[in-house]
Amino acid sequence: LRVAVLASGRGSNLAALLEARARGELPVEFVLVGSDRADAGALALARAADVPTLALSPRDYPDRAAFDHALFEHVGQSGAELLVLAGFMRIIDGATLAPWVGRMINIHPSLLPKYRGLHTHRRALAAGDAEHGASVHYVTAELDGGPVIAQARIAIATGDDEQALASRLLAYEHRLLPAVVSHIAQGRLALRDGRVYLDGLPL
Ligand code: GRF
Repeated sequence: LRVAVLASGRGSNLAALLEARARGELPVEFVLVGSDRADAGALALARAADVPTLALSPRDYPDRAAFDHALFEHVGQSGAELLVLAGFMRIIDGATLAPWVGRMINIHPSLLPKYRGLHTHRRALAAGDAEHGASVHYVTAELDGGPVIAQARIAIATGDDEQALASRLLAYEHRLLPAVVSHIAQGRLALRDGRVYLDGLPL
């Protein structure tokens, strides 16, 4: 399976994917890592792994739709069959993403549908939740609102602060995302009529 990844930041989830691939556990080819930030750690990781990279600056485009259109032109040209958002911190234009629905996934650090958007760890702590987690979901036009494929769930410990919770969860994200990509690469997951199917059965 040909996979493109978009990331804005340090890229630890990308690193987890690249490492799973290097261990022979992920039957995919990474065809592009794209970013909206030229200084993203994710781009350096991709270069080190000999994956083609692309950095486009939103400042060079008149509006979000124009930027997204340009970015997705490159994604299309890369030949990607699956697009993974791994810490891509931008809302994607609905018309641009529409053709990718069912072929684009995102990892989000909350137990969706709880805490869409930013500051998820802080919000879970402020709410006094006993549990927190991460979700991988198909991307739709609704921000962090697409059908959930899989979740990792952890207990919130007394004394957890935002930082501790985030870093403990991250280790689970690094297993969750490669596991989902592996299932997709094996043809075991599909999105049909807004529902997720695993091995032909609705989740
Ligand atoms: C992760 O917490 C991910 O869930 C969220 O953004 C963060 C990206 O971290 N969408 P990294 O760049 O993969 O290290």
